[in-house]
Amino acid sequence: MTRPLQNRRILLVIGGGIAAYKALDLIRRLRERGAQVRPLLTKGAQEFVTPLAAAALAGERAHTDLFDRAEEADIGHIKLARDADAIVVAPATASLMARMATGEASDLAATVLLATTLPILIAPAMNVRMWQHPATRRNLATLKGDGVHVVGPNDGAMAEAEFGPGRLAEPAEIADAVEAMLAGDDAGSGFGFLAGRPQNPARPLAGRRVLVTSGPTHEPIDPVRYLANRSSGRQGHAIAAAAAAAGAEVTLVSGPVQIPDPAGVRVIAVETARAMLAAVETALPADIAVFTAAVGDWRPASVGANKIKKDGGDPAPLVLVENPDILATIAARSSDRPTLVVGFAAETDDVLANARRKIARKGCDLLVANDVSASGGVMGGLTNTVHLVGRDGSVETWPTLDKDEVGRRLVARFAALLPA
Ligand code: C5P
Repeated sequence: MTRPLQNRRILLVIGGGIAAYKALDLIRRLRERGAQVRPLLTKGAQEFVTPLAAAALAGERAHTDLFDRAEEADIGHIKLARDADAIVVAPATASLMARMATGEASDLAATVLLATTLPILIAPAMNVRMWQHPATRRNLATLKGDGVHVVGPNDGAMAEAEFGPGRLAEPAEIADAVEAMLAGDDAGSGFGFLAGRPQNPARPLAGRRVLVTSGPTHEPIDPVRYLANRSSGRQGHAIAAAAAAAGAEVTLVSGPVQIPDPAGVRVIAVETARAMLAAVETALPADIAVFTAAVGDWRPASVGANKIKKDGGDPAPLVLVENPDILATIAARSSDRPTLVVGFAAETDDVLANARRKIARKGCDLLVANDVSASGGVMGGLTNTVHLVGRDGSVETWPTLDKDEVGRRLVARFAALLPA
């Protein structure tokens, strides 16, 4: 079996957050996979874990201070920035991300990160409000634009008894992401601007336009009521984020959702299926169109101008009419049909048989089928188990993965399917 991290040298920058303790486990996971790990702790990190613990687990000296004379004589920050195959920043705090984004070389970690041309993976971890702050979103978009790879953060309970995105990705996930980054970057540096190559392998969709639909639709019954579904928008948003990280110019047409807009993506918010179709048509042309939205199949035939009242008798029957099929409409366009049209099939039973029928009916090139029966917890949940169904009826089943990871892998697949 090949071990992608065998003998790869990782400089692990540990930032100053409560999640720093997980960086110790990450050292172990990376070493289990054959990597050599050199730890570098910021001043803040040393409030949470000791250089001694990191050094003991890494079997290497831990670096800490920019102005350590002995260290400068011995290895020096420029050498640290070069003498590895990749740099991993975990946890990447809001402050460290800000310093990276602005190119501020105020301590050893930031100096090394500024001086390097190596591929960089950051694993952000911070309070959910800090993560959602526009400043952090801007910094994240800047870093992604510079070719920095990102894993997580995950949703979950936080140290401050809050819930939401901000938890450090699990050490095994980070190790997977390092493997993926090194596999993708074997052709050279992660930085296109430094390597001077026309196409950065970390940004396979540079120069491409990607259109994604996401979330549910709301179909009004009257001014205060609507028909909707349980879609959270997580999968569609994750695909849009991954496409942006891969260098694409992304338009995300989203129904009403409770999650933040992905960084670096143009978002058009809509409510109804008809508004979604209109927004999608306006956003064309695109190289890739991914229809992830859980579009309401029906809408009330007429919308009450005022709130419909109870009048003591039986309720008036709700008459429904069918909504336009956005995916089928776009897949059937003759002049500006996107090169790759991808549909989703949320099924509660007979997933594959239904998906095979659907790909033909909708006219798309690829269908991503998933089981959304209540027991799976996919609708509104954080993970997804998908099957890729091809036009020839072929099926590829992926393991259950975090929706962000599904998004990244799908985007890598889409990029591979596009003609050069
Ligand atoms: O027919 P079904 O709703 O299962 O098809 C799912 C796929 O079709 C998804 O890609 C969804 O975004 C898309 N769709 C659409 N417009 C509709 C219904 C579904 O784009 N009205």
